[in-house]
This record gives sequence, structure tokens and C-alpha cells, in this order.
Amino acid sequence: MAVDRERSVVFGEAVEQYESARPGYPEQLVTDVLEYAPAGPVLEVGAGTGKATAGFAARGVDLTCVEPDARMAAALAAKCPGVRVERGIFEDYVPDRRFALLYSAQAWHWVDPDRRWDLAHAALAPSGALALFWSHYLVTETGLRSALADVAHRHGVTSHSLHQDEDRTGESQHLLAGDPRFTDLDERSYAWTQWYDARRYLDLVGTISAYRILEPGLREAVLGEVAALVGDGVDMTFTADLTLARRAG
Ligand SMILES: C[S@@+](CC[C@H](N)C(=O)[O-])C[C@H]1O[C@@H](n2cnc3c(N)ncnc32)[C@H](O)[C@@H]1O
Repeated sequence: MAVDRERSVVFGEAVEQYESARPGYPEQLVTDVLEYAPAGPVLEVGAGTGKATAGFAARGVDLTCVEPDARMAAALAAKCPGVRVERGIFEDYVPDRRFALLYSAQAWHWVDPDRRWDLAHAALAPSGALALFWSHYLVTETGLRSALADVAHRHGVTSHSLHQDEDRTGESQHLLAGDPRFTDLDERSYAWTQWYDARRYLDLVGTISAYRILEPGLREAVLGEVAALVGDGVDMTFTADLTLARRAG
């Protein structure tokens, strides 16, 4: 049974796990986003510990990050000292400038669906770029993947991460295509594989909100079953899906 608390605020409890276990994003994705966007200030929504921030900051962009979780924000400020960190949710953020690029990595689904497109539009300068991306984390070997999915299913874990391809970009693309305030839609996909030893894989599971919100005893039981299945470790396939759009006018 899940304890009653907001899934979006559970990340800060696992900052170290998050930082060590979650994959980063491909250099090519950063290159493609910056090539698509006009020059100017950049806004990141839901920066977390800076998994995507680091790649953009390394390119020398003028970067402002919005992040509500205090522990995530502290880790982000330590990792990327050159970026401005605005503590709070994007819904409450009042931009002090118009941005040439707004990007969000693995976080746009946490922003109020009724307000996020208006907020993005208002934060962008004319022709400014919107870049939304999510990574899928999949255990490469299909037999092991379905055995792990069974464990999650039996314990009422609602996330499909690690077991099934989730399509978050499809919805964004559909909504952007029907919104005349945005134009020039584009999409890209980046795939890579990586070996995760058992410890890192369990840490990765522990960063997924649907597992974090389980009551502690149940979480330990689930992680125990997962550990028994993965043995020494697993080969992971990661895919980052990127949606690009531009503010029309
Ligand atoms: C899955 S993490 C992604 C973090 C980072 N971008 C990455 O790729 O690793 C989602 C992040 O969104 C933040 N978040 C949740 N709700 C938010 C909101 N309404 N506005 C801005 N950020 C939010 C969380 O605190 C968390 O850091």
C-alpha cells in the first residue's frame, strides 16, 4: 500500500541514490537542443540534482534552474555553481526575463497539466525553443524484465519504468501540434546501453517515485525480491526521447 504523500516531492529523500544511479543525458541531445534554440538565456524546469543541467552548463549558457525540493536544489547548486537556482515549483515561478530556451528533463509531467503550456509560452521570448525530454529505463533482457514486472505488479507498484516503454513524449507532441502558439515541431531519439551492477540497479529502483512511496516494510520486501532476480547486475537499455517546438511569433 502506498503511503499518502505527494509523489513529486519524494525525490529529495534519495538525493545520493538519485545522483549515483540515474543515467545522464547524451552529449548529442544537448548539442541538438542548443542548435535548435536561438541564442539567449536558458530556463530549466525541475532540474533535480543537475543530471541535465551539467551538460548545458558545460556549454557556457546563461542558465536559470527552477527546482522545488530543497535537498535536490542544494545538490544542484553544489554541482553546478555557475547556474541560478530558483527554489519552488514552476507554477509559482515569475520569470524576470524572456528565455530563448526552456527545457525540462524527466520533469514536465510533474507540472500542472492545465497550466504548463501557458507558463512555457509566457516564459519564452518570440521564437524561443521548448525542449522536453524523458528517458526510458529498460532492463535489456526480456525474460528478466517480465519477471521484474511481475514483482512490481504483485505488490501494486504503479510505475512501468524499468519494465515497459512509457510514452510521455507522444502526449506532448499531440498537444503542441494542436496549439497554434507553438510551431516547428521536431522529435529525436537517443539510445544507449549500460551495465548496472546489482547495487546501482537497486539504487535506480529506489529513485523511482512509485517505489519510494511504498510503506518502508513493503519497499524492503519488493527490493529483496528484485535483488534475488538480478543477481550480479543487469544490462540496461536507455532511450532519451526529445520533443522540440518553437514559440510562434
Ligand atoms: C524525475 S526528477 C528529474 C530531475 C532532473 N531533471 C533529471 O533529469 O534527473 C523530477 C524533478 O522535478 C521536480 N519537480 C516536481 N514538481 C515540480 C514542479 N511543479 N515544478 C518544477 N519542478 C518540479 C522534482 O523536485 C524533481 O527534482
